[in-house]
Amino acid sequence: MDPLQTAIDTAREAGALLLRLAGGPLETREKGVRGDLVTVADRASERLIVERLLTAFPASAILGEEEGARGGTSDERWIVDPLDGTTNYTHGYPFYCVSIAYERGGEVVAGAIHAPALGETFAASRGAGATRNGTPISVSQTSTIGDSLVCTGFMPAKYERNGENFARLSGIAQAVRRDGSAALDLAYVANGTFEAFWEFDLKAWDVAAGGLIVREAGGTVTAIDGSNFAIDAGSILASNGRIHAEMRAALRVAR
Ligand code: IPD
Ligand code: CA
Ligand code: CA
Repeated sequence: MDPLQTAIDTAREAGALLLRLAGGPLETREKGVRGDLVTVADRASERLIVERLLTAFPASAILGEEEGARGGTSDERWIVDPLDGTTNYTHGYPFYCVSIAYERGGEVVAGAIHAPALGETFAASRGAGATRNGTPISVSQTSTIGDSLVCTGFMPAKYERNGENFARLSGIAQAVRRDGSAALDLAYVANGTFEAFWEFDLKAWDVAAGGLIVREAGGTVTAIDGSNFAIDAGSILASNGRIHAEMRAALRVAR
């Protein structure tokens, strides 16, 4: 079994399920923090993904947003966000996705991000480049923030931590977006649509696939303070590389 193909096929199957469930009752509820939503679709998507991954890779561990961690007997682990952008999904805003990353020996080596309402699948495996719907992609060539479309994200309850950065970047970038799906935001950096994306307080399932896809598309990924990126580090700054230092200098890391 090829992990990359398994990730792509599974993300597409889960995406099709999300589209089917979108019109029905979603039983939306908050998970304790304002704006942190879960629906029947998040859960159904994760159940399908876990079943498919364990059928193909029975020895793997899995970390999923809704069902938590499940141990394995190999050095492989799947990291799954069954629906990234749940708020967008519940409102019919098409910017949401399924994100599946495959880790071996503690390193992410393959990943897929599928946005079913947009018909886009982004994928990468380490050393082999990144693709969108099977065609190679690369980050943009733009070299200044002033010419850049940059994107950020934040939990509504945590706006304070990022609000000043949002305001500052709005003053120097061509424009700033807040598009509501961290994984897909990263895919759009890889694609060359956004020159950069930053966010605090993310989880491994938000960034594991996207971080690899950006790097394989030729981009740079660090923590917001410029230190080495780790999927469980919390913060991420991903860019086309050319504006990374300028972004780094523009962002303040409030505690
Ligand atoms: C959220 C989205 C959002 C980001 C939040 C994430 P979810 O994931 O990626 O864009 O700002 O920090 O929690 O809850 O929709 O899977
Ligand atoms: Ca998420
Ligand atoms: Ca999610």
